[in-house]
Amino acid sequence: MTVHFIGAGPGAADLITLRGRDLIAASPVCLYAGSLVPQALLSHCPPGARIVNTAPLSLDQIIAEIVSAHAAGHDVARLHSGDLSVWSAMGEQLRRLRDLGIPCDVTPGVPSFAAAAAALGAELTLPGVAQSVVLTRTSGRASAMPEGERLAVFAATGATLAIHLSVHVLDRVLAELTPHYGADCPVAVVFRASWPDQRIIRATLATLDPALGEGERTALILVGHALAQEGFDESRLYAGDYDRRFRPVGTAPRFPE
Ligand SMILES: C[S@@+](CC[C@H](N)C(=O)[O-])C[C@H]1O[C@@H](n2cnc3c(N)ncnc32)[C@H](O)[C@@H]1O
Repeated sequence: MTVHFIGAGPGAADLITLRGRDLIAASPVCLYAGSLVPQALLSHCPPGARIVNTAPLSLDQIIAEIVSAHAAGHDVARLHSGDLSVWSAMGEQLRRLRDLGIPCDVTPGVPSFAAAAAALGAELTLPGVAQSVVLTRTSGRASAMPEGERLAVFAATGATLAIHLSVHVLDRVLAELTPHYGADCPVAVVFRASWPDQRIIRATLATLDPALGEGERTALILVGHALAQEGFDESRLYAGDYDRRFRPVGTAPRFPE
């Protein structure tokens, strides 16, 4: 018996890995984080599967579900939105299951920041503009930010920021970022990336409506000069005169065949 933690992707039902889909199909129990995991993924569950929405459950109740599946020898597909490496609450479940000696494995998923970048048709790391992406958030009721991870600290680097869980405090985000990136810096808010009702707002830090996030909360705020998708250098990787292992150039290539 194994608990398979599976990244369910950002919303579109076909943005799950083949491995994730096959594990769902092979598991007699499916626990899914109801608010963001698309219902359509549950159609991969085998007939008669026990399917439980964990949104209203406490951690103790979720672990109790897993313990009872373990006692019955049933594999569990545990679905969380996006990828499991960020804001999935997988860590606390893994710790409990390790203590209980219940075997687990993890299958990655498409994270929402990648789905949002795809919706924008944007590369977030452009040569000469930004070479780092910071996946971050602002403080919430459930999680305070460590002091060294304030938005302003990351903004000082000029990296592209992918700000999660924060569209409801846009005014604060804009105020913290503008001194670092400048009022004309591009910003995009992608609501429900990859869902059928996906919505994209593009603006600058000066022109974005701070009241935008008063309704729908499933949104990513992407900020940085890379979003302009212009004024950047071409990468050296594909330059005609760039000598590299897979494309030796010149009479004395660096990596002779
Ligand atoms: C609890 S976190 C889960 C993050 C997830 N594990 C991931 O890999 O993206 C939820 C936040 O992720 C962002 N998010 C998740 N799905 C999204 C989507 N389809 N479009 C835009 N933002 C999304 C929002 O900022 C939302 O508040």
